Amino acid sequence: MPHREQRSLSRRRLLQLTGTTTLGALAGCAGQLPGTDDGGGREVSPRPTVTAEPDTSVSLTAASGTIRPTPDTSTTNWMYEGQFPGPELRVQEGDVLSVELTNDLQEETTIHWHGVPVPNPVDGVPNVTQDPIASGNTFTYTFRAEPAGTYFYHSHVGLQLDRGLLGPLIVEEREPHVEYDREYVVVVDDYLPGEPKLPSDGGRGGGMGGRGGMMGDVRPPYEGLLINGRLPENPQTFDVTEGERVRFRFVNASSATVFGVRIAGHEMTVTHTDGRPVEPVDADSFVFGAGERYDVVVEATNPGRWFVQADALDGNEPPARAAVEYESTGGSGTPQTPSSSSNRLQYGDLRALSSLDGVSDDPDRTFDLTLSRGRGEYVWTIDGQTYPDADPLNIRPGEHVRIRMTNQSPVVHPMHLHGHFFQVGNAVKDTVIVPGHRGQVTIDFHADNPGRWLFHCHNLYHLDAGMARVVRYVE
Ligand code: C2O
Ligand code: CU
Repeated sequence: MPHREQRSLSRRRLLQLTGTTTLGALAGCAGQLPGTDDGGGREVSPRPTVTAEPDTSVSLTAASGTIRPTPDTSTTNWMYEGQFPGPELRVQEGDVLSVELTNDLQEETTIHWHGVPVPNPVDGVPNVTQDPIASGNTFTYTFRAEPAGTYFYHSHVGLQLDRGLLGPLIVEEREPHVEYDREYVVVVDDYLPGEPKLPSDGGRGGGMGGRGGMMGDVRPPYEGLLINGRLPENPQTFDVTEGERVRFRFVNASSATVFGVRIAGHEMTVTHTDGRPVEPVDADSFVFGAGERYDVVVEATNPGRWFVQADALDGNEPPARAAVEYESTGGSGTPQTPSSSSNRLQYGDLRALSSLDGVSDDPDRTFDLTLSRGRGEYVWTIDGQTYPDADPLNIRPGEHVRIRMTNQSPVVHPMHLHGHFFQVGNAVKDTVIVPGHRGQVTIDFHADNPGRWLFHCHNLYHLDAGMARVVRYVE
């Protein structure tokens, strides 16, 4: 069951019965009608949803089914269209995409279009932007797919993302700023057979809680790491021809894993982060947290068979792997593993091709937020509050908003803002890692998309244990 959602629902019912109103209650009571005055000013209506005829219409059914991460292992997972990862959705920039989701699960679900600044009503956050879709029901998400970029879609209910409800969404640019001859989408994930649970609800991590110490983290009992749904014993092959330029679109669709990525025998030219184009920069590895994406271009000038490898920085599972295979090798020989990295990409290396509008002067509003672990139970907090019992971050349309985060825990938090890109250093992103042990990161965004937007850690377990706030537009 989506216990977080349930808790908030039952809490809301309780509040309605008792008539209690507190700030925390209002934040938790996300189902309240827009326009209600609650002391923070009237809420601003969201952009209307698109009514134009769709250029692409897709049906997705969420249901349980069987996946085979290796030819001789199988497990029951939840999937879109019986595929894991879910089907690649690919459209042209500016196209209207309509997705009809049918819920054949036994519980409620939604889809979130991670990174796409859609109008608020189709953002897919249960009890914040929509009622969750009941078992047996359908819901249609229609939005204009822009700007171009590498995105993904996933369930935003409870821990369903870690059950397999995810897939890539590619919005092709009309004029790419880099040339390439072919491309591959690389969805990197952690593999959890069975039902995900919070440590506090009996997940295996609960028993390990002592080991990491009170402030440390626990990791779900992953059975391996995946590239495009396959364990390293069963790597997918990416065919290339010598002389080609090959674009890889890497998506970290994991629920709790920071990956370091390398391609043996090749330097990567990083061209995009979180879908947004950057000045091309060379690196032999990059690190990305849950929810982040990188596009790279590789020149195929080193014939052979080479592993694309993603190592968990915070786990000890064998690395996720796929194989780059030159046509000339005829498919024989074991692929070579990457050597250790000497030129790892840093955020400071990233320069957005075009910086964000509306954030160049001093901010109109600044939030200083502390990210930390709660005491005792498995709880993660932002400024000491546990979502949904947490105050909204109220902002006004047109503002330049700054959020300064300080991480008072020893583990990284990949923080994601819905509905907006933000400026971080010279990069434009939608998800950014805040390092542990007092790491600090400042993001700036332009309040140009009214509604209620979740701002949260993309470690699914941290999110489910409270590490989220609603950014809310008021007049
Ligand atoms: Cu991938 Cu709240 O998002
Ligand atoms: Cu976190």
